[in-house]
Amino acid sequence: MASSSSKLLLKHTLLHILLIILTILTPYASGCYSAIFSFGDSITDTGNSVHRSKSSEPLHFALPPYGETYFNYPTGRCCDGRLILDFIAQNLGLPFVPPYFGGRNASGAYNFEKGVNFALVGANTLDDSFFEERGISNSYTNSSMRCQLSWFKDLLPSLCLSSSDCNKLLQRSLFILGEFGGNDYNRALLAGRSAEEIHSYVPIIVDAIASATSELIELGAMTVMVPGNLPFGCAAAYLTYFESSDKEEYDPIGCLIWLNNIAKHHNALLQKKLSQIRERHPHAAIIYADIFNAAMPYYLSPWKFGFTKGAITACCGAGAPPYHFNTSVACGYFPSFAFDHPFKYVNWDGWHLTEAAYRLITKGLLEGPYTIPHINTSCVSTIASAEYSNFE
Ligand SMILES: *[C@@H]1O[C@H](CO)[C@@H](O)[C@H](O)[C@H]1NC(C)=O
Ligand SMILES: *[C@@H]1O[C@H](CO)[C@@H](O)[C@H](O)[C@H]1NC(C)=O
Ligand SMILES: *[C@@H]1O[C@H](CO)[C@@H](O)[C@H](O)[C@H]1NC(C)=O
Ligand SMILES: *[C@@H]1O[C@H](CO)[C@@H](O)[C@H](O)[C@H]1NC(C)=O
Repeated sequence: MASSSSKLLLKHTLLHILLIILTILTPYASGCYSAIFSFGDSITDTGNSVHRSKSSEPLHFALPPYGETYFNYPTGRCCDGRLILDFIAQNLGLPFVPPYFGGRNASGAYNFEKGVNFALVGANTLDDSFFEERGISNSYTNSSMRCQLSWFKDLLPSLCLSSSDCNKLLQRSLFILGEFGGNDYNRALLAGRSAEEIHSYVPIIVDAIASATSELIELGAMTVMVPGNLPFGCAAAYLTYFESSDKEEYDPIGCLIWLNNIAKHHNALLQKKLSQIRERHPHAAIIYADIFNAAMPYYLSPWKFGFTKGAITACCGAGAPPYHFNTSVACGYFPSFAFDHPFKYVNWDGWHLTEAAYRLITKGLLEGPYTIPHINTSCVSTIASAEYSNFE
């Protein structure tokens, strides 16, 4: 009797020890990736620009109503709540990716163990010299993709203890390179450059993104997600800037065809370049994130997805319907205002989408057909089902 109960106790103890060992051995079980490193522009900035700004006047996206839906205060995200990057992190069981600027405390220490985000509002793919040489005004200097990559390379040695440790970190991390391109096109478009000239930039911009992808893989990254461009011809801002009396310029949704064609050209070329890189690096997962097509259902039939105010009207801005966008009054500044219930809108502030739209786009990436090849989330099912409630 005594012996069988002590056997039982021993069994229990062994089971307990086994469980503890298992827990220790599987620190990455909370997701496929141990960290996320991301680069990009205002689609992805989680606070860098606000922390880096030296301006005495607050940036418009550092003011309410930015952040009103999720964080309850403006975090520097160009959104009423979470971004695609935030939803990816949550659904991989990782914390929100901290901004590189402002990620350090007063004594310079940081906690970038689970990743860091270098994305900056206004960031171009191409270096400042490209715009200078062409006489295109660019007030967002020193934030290009190449700058962001160099900050990462400078930081990397401090994130790991040895070169084998660094290799492990790179292998187990998800890299998200972009979206990039939107601002390069934007600068040239607002400088009045022709569609033809802008199409001639596409191969230059795509080549830069492709070479940054290769560079990350050569550094040791195993999984790089590269998003394409959104259908920016549907953005309230562009629809206001390039409003036309020629109905032929618009598709049945009300988007500007010639602008969406720039995004499509970019995306087609980017996919071609990425497949070339895949051939050279078959061991790496180079994932194209098709945010253009992931977003398209919400433009085509917004009401089906709860976007009862449509996809074209900005929730926050100034200016008359249908766009609610005024080129001289950004969301956040007087006399702009936000309509109630941002989740009924696809467009948040003219340029960017609402949390509700980003959430559905992310669902399309992680669960739907819009990551090519499909992102491996086979270990995601082990994370708390609470994480998935984001997608209800
Ligand atoms: C900064 O963080 C480090 C490491 O967590 C900590 O030791 C230090 O006290 C912190 N400094 C300040 C000023 O918060
Ligand atoms: C950008 O970087 C260059 C080189 O480091 C520096 O000389 C210049 O002052 C910077 N410009 C701005 C606006 O920060
Ligand atoms: C944009 O806002 C400014 C400042 O309030 C105003 O003067 C201007 O008339 C507005 N423009 C349009 C097109 O509504
Ligand atoms: C996905 O990841 C899991 C766990 O790391 C691995 O066992 C599986 O082979 C991977 N699947 C693919 C298609 O890469």
